[in-house]
Amino acid sequence: PTCDVRFLLSEGGSGRGAAVVTAVARRLAAQRRRLDAALAPFLLAPDTLREVRDKMRAELEYGLKREAQGKATVKMLPTYVCGTPDGTEKGKFLALDLGGTNFRVLLVKIKSGRKRSVQMYNKIFAIPLEIMQGTGEELFDHIVQCIAEFLEYMGIKGACLPLGFTFSFPCRQASIDKGTLVGWTKGFKATDCEGEDVVDMLREAIRRRNEFDLDIVAVVNDTVGTMMTCGYEDPNCEIGLIAGTGSNVCYMEDMKNIEIVEGNEGKMCINTEWGAFGDNGCIDHIRTKYDREVDEGSLNPGKQRYEKMTSGMYLGEIVRQILIDLTKQGLLFRGHISESLRKRGIFETKFLSQIESDRLALLQVRRILQQLGLDSTCEDSIIVKEVCGVVSRRAARLCGAGLAAIVEKKRENRGVEHLQITVGVDGTLYKLHPHFSTVLRETVKELAPQCDVTFLLSEDGSGKGAALITAVAKRLHNIDKYLYAMRLSDETLLDVMARFRREMKNGLSRDFNPTAAVKMLPTFVRSIPDGSEKGDFIALDLGGSYFRILRVKVSHEKKQTVQMESEIYNTPEDIMHGSGTRLFDHVAECLGDFMEKQQIKDKKLPVGFTFSFPCRQTKLDEGILITWTKRFKASGVEGADVVKLLNKAIKKRGDYDADIMAVVNDTVGTMMTCGFDDQRCEVGLIIGTGTNACYMEEMRHIDLVEGDEGRMCINTEWGAFGDDGSLEDIRTEFDREIDRGSLNPGKQLFEKMVSGLYMGELVRLILVKMAKEGLLFEGRITPELLTKGKFETKHVSAIEKSKEGLNKAKEILTRLGVEPSHEDCIAVQHVCTIVSFRSANLVASTLGAILNQLRDNKGVGRLRTTVGVDGSLYKMHPQYARRLHKTTRRLVPDSEVRFLLSESGSGKGAAMVTAVAYRLAEGDAGNRRRGIGVSLWLHCCFLNNPLRAHKVYDFKYDHFSL
Ligand code: BG6
Ligand code: BG6
Ligand code: GLC
Ligand code: GLC
Repeated sequence: PTCDVRFLLSEGGSGRGAAVVTAVARRLAAQRRRLDAALAPFLLAPDTLREVRDKMRAELEYGLKREAQGKATVKMLPTYVCGTPDGTEKGKFLALDLGGTNFRVLLVKIKSGRKRSVQMYNKIFAIPLEIMQGTGEELFDHIVQCIAEFLEYMGIKGACLPLGFTFSFPCRQASIDKGTLVGWTKGFKATDCEGEDVVDMLREAIRRRNEFDLDIVAVVNDTVGTMMTCGYEDPNCEIGLIAGTGSNVCYMEDMKNIEIVEGNEGKMCINTEWGAFGDNGCIDHIRTKYDREVDEGSLNPGKQRYEKMTSGMYLGEIVRQILIDLTKQGLLFRGHISESLRKRGIFETKFLSQIESDRLALLQVRRILQQLGLDSTCEDSIIVKEVCGVVSRRAARLCGAGLAAIVEKKRENRGVEHLQITVGVDGTLYKLHPHFSTVLRETVKELAPQCDVTFLLSEDGSGKGAALITAVAKRLHNIDKYLYAMRLSDETLLDVMARFRREMKNGLSRDFNPTAAVKMLPTFVRSIPDGSEKGDFIALDLGGSYFRILRVKVSHEKKQTVQMESEIYNTPEDIMHGSGTRLFDHVAECLGDFMEKQQIKDKKLPVGFTFSFPCRQTKLDEGILITWTKRFKASGVEGADVVKLLNKAIKKRGDYDADIMAVVNDTVGTMMTCGFDDQRCEVGLIIGTGTNACYMEEMRHIDLVEGDEGRMCINTEWGAFGDDGSLEDIRTEFDREIDRGSLNPGKQLFEKMVSGLYMGELVRLILVKMAKEGLLFEGRITPELLTKGKFETKHVSAIEKSKEGLNKAKEILTRLGVEPSHEDCIAVQHVCTIVSFRSANLVASTLGAILNQLRDNKGVGRLRTTVGVDGSLYKMHPQYARRLHKTTRRLVPDSEVRFLLSESGSGKGAAMVTAVAYRLAEGDAGNRRRGIGVSLWLHCCFLNNPLRAHKVYDFKYDHFSL
């Protein structure tokens, strides 16, 4: 009864009604088709996503390569953050957080130990658009203004706190506290900043204001800050992801894969800057016309192409471009493009997120659109919601494909079948969008099925992580400041290289040799082994850590084979420092004992004598000791021929006879040993008790020996580099102290900065001084720590081991009577690293000079050569060799150097030299002493270079007629 119903008779039957329905359906279907056509490019098929993943992976790998520097689109920037938090961080820090939606200044208090905690106070400040896009000076002045307000607000204006600067833009870093802005991204475009160090710019601005001082210790990307924030909660967090205004990822990479950073042990965080993925066009086929329009209208056209498809700053803009297009097609807003739709930036991520919220009724969607000035119908709202969904889903899928590449890389790095890893995440898109995180996770699962990825949301922003990094950096920063003189830049190393090249030239020249510090001694060895040597030999090996006697049998049935037996003999200090006669009596006695044991006392075997000290030679079987080095200081030997001294000692005994046919330096022995395995070997390098190198020089450059043809091995005796004052600018107070306390003050100054006999002591002297100044062990100094020689080079090696290093440090320091804290151990490890790094760097410089000389001698653009190496420091130190290789390659980029470790000491090489000398001597007894050098060289030239034979023959003729 309450309804008033009208009955209307259908005049035309239901057909008309059906036609109306059909007309609407048709219109809708046509609309749908056009809509689908517009949105289809956003729906990425699984295969396309896999292709994106693989391309991203290839770009990541390329970015790590040295040759990619300045060329790679995905820049893979080293961050100098080498570990995730371990709970020992503590202190009070300031942090800045610039580059995301908000600019924040924070005060962070970190407590370590069992009650570890982090307290944070922060304030958000606005950065007006005109400052974001004004001048660099205005921007940094504004930042400093905000810091001043914050310090005032917190009541800490006078405190000079360490500061960690989260700067969310691509920066090239050479250390944790330096960051050169590669290029602005997102909404920033301040002038005069690109190519500048942002830490310097901040320091300058603080100086300009002249109100307070801050100690800027670290500059970090927001991805890195996020990874560290999350890493504090979960040690398995080794990836940081930002899906916010911008899009980016960082992750912990194995050092050995990062070609442009020295060192191979451990890990370093790499800021991928993946936002630039595709800037080389490699994903252009999946970019839509809308992406291109967004790009063209952006602050940085052509750049950050992947970011522009995946991050909050651009998703709204993509939606707006689609809406304009659909409106033009008459599919939206009744075909009318309103003023507000023309406005760039009306669609922010937050609106996108709101519109896509599942719980939102269509009416509410309409209301949001209305707020944006878009007068929509219900149908419009449905379409807008769909557009938003397609765009944000594509963003999440693309981001997932990128992340799949990263986790897969991590899995392969670890060499595991299945990887469990945590990704620390931040950013408004990830946090506020209703579906982004879910789609992202699903995609990663789909594309990296062997990885079990946990996503940990960063609750506290990246300021906390930046403070944690600052805490670690501050500790090491203090030591670095303290030992700044020991950290040599590449510029200095190149300078040292140039200086050493000059020294080499002087040493080789007749006029300058008498006063040259680096003696460049001719060795009368003219070629490396050629495979024809044979016989039964004795080799003496005196001057390294051990005195060794060897029997070397070289046979030649089908293939050349070497059999070696050896015995180590003790050389007590009183003999090393006593009279020369006693020393050589000792050597002769040990040789007698060895021959007895070998039952060859009745034979007169040829002997090769590796004598690892600087000797002047005019022939192979003569060695006049110029000066003792390292541990030896026996009287009456300097200026005498060691072969004669040994012969005399043997004769005096009268119980056996020996024929000392060659005296060789250990570098030469090493080169010959390695030359046996690799014919290309033309440098011998020792980094052991002492350090030295020899190499094959062109005869025409050796003024001190007659003749211009062929080559001769030169024993550089580079240990004496700097003895004329040429290294004074890089020697430190510790180097001078080492020298003062040595057996040979004023001599072997380069050796004393580099080699094993001195390295431990160098570290000890530093530790004592640091302890005295209260920087270590709470200022405690023990008698053991004060005892010379108590801290050995083998301890440096143990402490620098990557896994057990800190435990070893604790053990060693405890034995020295100090009770080290964890922090002390980290600090001592850092001191060891600085000292051993300097050593490897210095050797790379001098070796670099030799390599350049070889390259110039050969007149080739690119040198391919092998360096034979021996010595306990090189062999035992866990990172020395790799550091040396890396720095050498960096300093001499146009070379391909193989470092070949001498496995069997220099005795084998000495035997090789002796073998040739012996055979030639046997064949030509009359000319034996006189002609060995020439004959040896002739022999090798004939064998190695038949084309030159006739010329050699002429030379022989001349020589003998003389
Ligand atoms: C914040 C971090 O939480 O997230 C910033 O503290 C970071 O360092 C930001 O840049 C990223 O997200 P958005 O959405 O603000 O760009
Ligand atoms: C040995 C060589 O292997 O290394 C020696 O046989 C050389 O000739 C020595 O002197 C150098 O290393 P260290 O560490 O023993 O001085
Ligand atoms: C941009 C920046 C990058 C930052 C990211 C997220 O891609 O270049 O450094 O990490 O945005 O904020
Ligand atoms: C010292 C010696 C040198 C030797 C080097 C390595 O520098 O002077 O001859 O090669 O130590 O043992």
